[in-house]
Amino acid sequence: MRSRLVAGNWKMHGSLAANQRLLDGLKSGLKASDGAQYTVCVPYPYLSQAQSCLSGTPIAWGAQNLSEHAQGAFTGEVSGAMLRDFGCRHVLVGHSERRALYGETDKQVAAKFQAAQGAGLIPILCVGESLQERESGVTEIVVGRQLAAVLDSSGVGALVNAVIAYEPVWAIGTGRTATPQQAQAVHAFIRGVVGRQDAKLAAGLSILYGGSVKAGNAKELFAMPDIDGGLIGGAALVVEDFVAICDAARSA
Ligand code: 13P
Repeated sequence: MRSRLVAGNWKMHGSLAANQRLLDGLKSGLKASDGAQYTVCVPYPYLSQAQSCLSGTPIAWGAQNLSEHAQGAFTGEVSGAMLRDFGCRHVLVGHSERRALYGETDKQVAAKFQAAQGAGLIPILCVGESLQERESGVTEIVVGRQLAAVLDSSGVGALVNAVIAYEPVWAIGTGRTATPQQAQAVHAFIRGVVGRQDAKLAAGLSILYGGSVKAGNAKELFAMPDIDGGLIGGAALVVEDFVAICDAARSA
């Protein structure tokens, strides 16, 4: 049975005071469960706060990006080893906002994936097509290319210690969620691509859906056979919403 994961991506939101309320709420709302795991990917300055609040709880924490380099003269960058120093378990790699706004290429994303694993982190590799790409019928070509960059550089075996998140760009922050059937189709495609290289590994690979997941639509998304949890943006900033989404993942 695949493990289910609900990951919160706080993006560039929060403050010490707001985070404290959110983390305290999550701590009392989320209980340890065999059914699902939880993680919050917080802005770098709040990693220490996440570490001190969440240590010893069933909630893991992580970051939203990392450098592809181990160390050196890279002003403003943060290495995987630094994230491990703060107890991070996960790190997002190749989020569409990084790809679109900061020009991260497939090659760079693949290097970041490798750097994350090299530092002992579990990368959550984000893939997904834009609206224009979907409407031009090239969703599988785009997602296949994003996936191939990592498979080619790290090898399929690396996915044992990784999670994939399918996030159609047109569904992020727009309130326009992919239908469960649309998401399922791409998840099945991703599992199929990996399965052609290693069927057993593909069967155990956690593939999350992200893009306007809310308390009200999580259950039907997580009920789909190839959707193993969610990567949550806006709703991860509201205690009741994130807890409800985690409940949906546990009971799906
Ligand atoms: P929303 O849930 O706000 O649409 O964001 C999704 C996302 O980008 C998570 O990484």
